[in-house]
Amino acid sequence: MSSESMDKLVSLCKRRGFLFPSSEIYGGLNGFWDYGPLGVELKRNIKEAWWKDMVSAHDDLDAPEGAPTAYQMVGLDCSIIMHPQVWKCSGHYDLFHDFMVDCRETKKRYRHDQVRGRWVEARGKKFFVATQSGGEEGFKETETRALKHLGLRSKQVDELSWTSPLVSLTTVDSFAEVLGPDAGELGTLTPPREFNLMFKTFVGALSGEEGAAFLRPETAQGIFVNFKNVVDSSRVRLPFGIAQVGKSFRNEITPRNFTFRSREFEQMEIEFFCHPSQSAEWYRYWRDRRYRWYTGLGLASSRLRLRDHDADELSHYSCGTADIEYAFPFLPPGEFGELEGIAHRGDFDLRSHREGKLARNGEDLAVEVDGEGKPRHRGSGKDIRYFDDQLKERFYPHVIEPSAGADRGTLAFLCEAFHEEQVEGETRTVLRLHPRLAPIKVAVLPLVNKDGMPEMAAKLYKELKRDHAAYFDDGGAIGRRYRRQDEVGTPFCVTVDGQSLVDGSVTWRDRDTLEQVRLGAAEVLPELHRRLRATC
Ligand code: GAP
Repeated sequence: MSSESMDKLVSLCKRRGFLFPSSEIYGGLNGFWDYGPLGVELKRNIKEAWWKDMVSAHDDLDAPEGAPTAYQMVGLDCSIIMHPQVWKCSGHYDLFHDFMVDCRETKKRYRHDQVRGRWVEARGKKFFVATQSGGEEGFKETETRALKHLGLRSKQVDELSWTSPLVSLTTVDSFAEVLGPDAGELGTLTPPREFNLMFKTFVGALSGEEGAAFLRPETAQGIFVNFKNVVDSSRVRLPFGIAQVGKSFRNEITPRNFTFRSREFEQMEIEFFCHPSQSAEWYRYWRDRRYRWYTGLGLASSRLRLRDHDADELSHYSCGTADIEYAFPFLPPGEFGELEGIAHRGDFDLRSHREGKLARNGEDLAVEVDGEGKPRHRGSGKDIRYFDDQLKERFYPHVIEPSAGADRGTLAFLCEAFHEEQVEGETRTVLRLHPRLAPIKVAVLPLVNKDGMPEMAAKLYKELKRDHAAYFDDGGAIGRRYRRQDEVGTPFCVTVDGQSLVDGSVTWRDRDTLEQVRLGAAEVLPELHRRLRATC
């Protein structure tokens, strides 16, 4: 899929009701999106497929392919606002920040590590031309802006001598020679400053710091602080996983790329608890299992990859992380964006939530500093370790965390599904969504609005709708109605025509092969069941 096709997909999403900018009638709010009637179904199908495959249909009696042993899976649904101490102990309060730079000239703000640029020499000057674009676009933009800054015309382009490729602004020591991404003058960017990404709010009538709380930046911590509750209430034994799907919030400095980097988004997270001696094996299992989940739902192209993090990329808690990444068409060629991270978190979280004890008034008085000089806040003091009654051992389990973004998943499935092809001299736009994910599974279409066809089609539609997302469309030429369904990814269409009134058969049309076969009307529901079940 090219970047031009991406523009077409964005417009399809708006036109057909997948995604709208939030609060659009007031000009929108950057980093926030609304899912329309078809978008909500698509995203729900993705979340439901995840929940079913990971939790509700998980076989806890036999080890799945590649798993060291059988294991249990249970779910949780925790509150978005939690005790502020949760975020101190998790490390988010002190460490969950990005670095930002401001432009004094344009008053714009950028994420330090997302600005890149090239060094250029011309007319006795040497400076760094910054841009937010990458690849070909970044090259073009830096060239145009370097010319403009020097007051040169495009035919004088040979005077520019580029002394570096596109590199990150983080490689630049002094900003005095930097031409900011939207600036006309040199040296207008401020030095980088830390910016905590958590959204702050105030609980109850207390508007001062004593009422301060945060919207969760990840769903994971709700699972850790409930670890003991789950063990005590549901008789799970190690190894087992706790899953959660829900909203998370991050005050991203530069939300962009459609829904890819939003300020409000949904996560699908598993915290998988196991004995420390087995954690390396479980880490490998989850890495591969999660990768296969995406390929099984249609992200089977060369655009998907599994990448192990280098040691210097690891989060403050992690001793091993792999990312599942997709080559989104809005990224420069060769670049990938993260869909999901699979992290080996060791015992960091459970240990942090237990160790130390708050003062009696609940205050985090003593902030210790750990071996690496990072702050360490006081935990709950509650013993949330696991007791293994066979080994007669009390210990902190190790945690493997597959953490996926539902919105990024939705976007990747949309990008992968989008195709334009020539059929009978016309361009057909089709979303080749996996049938499990398609918002509408079957459309029922009376060929014409007379002779009893609409009545027969309506009867069939009502029957199908009881079990499946069915859609009734009796407006316009049949060819156009097929195109409308192709464009939103409906895998099957059923047409009631003249022949139907004679022998009770209908036309069954397949979105991908365009094959049309005749089927008895009574066979449509079992055929749909069969086809959808075969894809699970
Ligand atoms: N508990 C670990 C954790 O939250 P993360 O890599 O920060 O790890 C996990 O986030 C996933 O959440 C990402 O792989 C991505 O799919 C999604 N995600 C993170 N930030 C996001 C954002 N600003 N907009 C949309 N999705 C985001």
